[in-house]
Amino acid sequence: MSNLDFIYKRKSVRKFKEQDVPMEDIKEMLKAATYAPSGKNVQNWHYVIVKDKNKIEQIAQAIENVYDRIIEKVNDPEKTKGLTKFLKYYTVFREAPVLIMAYMGHYEEKEIELLEEIGMYDQANVVKRTASRVQNVAASLENFMLAAANMGYGTCWMTGACFATLEIETLIPMEKEGFDLMAISPLGIPLKDSTAPKRKEVEEIFTLIE
Ligand SMILES: Cc1cc2nc3c(=O)[nH]c(=O)nc-3n(C[C@H](O)[C@H](O)[C@H](O)COP(=O)(O)O)c2cc1C
Repeated sequence: MSNLDFIYKRKSVRKFKEQDVPMEDIKEMLKAATYAPSGKNVQNWHYVIVKDKNKIEQIAQAIENVYDRIIEKVNDPEKTKGLTKFLKYYTVFREAPVLIMAYMGHYEEKEIELLEEIGMYDQANVVKRTASRVQNVAASLENFMLAAANMGYGTCWMTGACFATLEIETLIPMEKEGFDLMAISPLGIPLKDSTAPKRKEVEEIFTLIE
């Protein structure tokens, strides 16, 4: 049997020790991130590493502020209850020593333009929905997280707070043109061991055609 421990070690970590993460270690994780596959090897990802505690707190507060604005506008108590349940999951990075921000850059898909030009819109839509530029960044972020876990660090993939992306961008302006924020993750030493939530049975997730 192959040793897949490096896969099973990764779990979402939401509580961290105060201990800093040296840049040297972060660079190793970033190197692993660069080894992800990407369409046409475009590597259309960029990472912003936030180690400034005040900035991290400001981002958490910005998320809460936008959240409050959303809640104010939702008049249905049931919907408000549903929304409020998740708020704590949008700011879990708050106590972490590092916040990782993953950005997606441009990925030219000339095929889409061509298919549209020749009137093959259904095919163009299929290519669009595969969203290769998103897949590239996701593959890279997963590599980052696997590397982090293997090095004894915890991460948590987060997109829940994307409703506050515009506000986050004012706090952390992206200087590279054409890059959009895709996900954020805390990074640090896990406060305690955790277990991953239950998985689907393997038999449930595949179809064999032979
Ligand atoms: C696209 C995506 C978005 C996620 N967003 C959040 C989030 O906003 N907050 C959070 O606490 N966890 C978030 N998670 C983590 C999931 O809840 C977690 O991966 C899932 O429950 C499985 O647990 P595990 O990562 O420990 O294996 C997200 C995961 C993914 C892949």
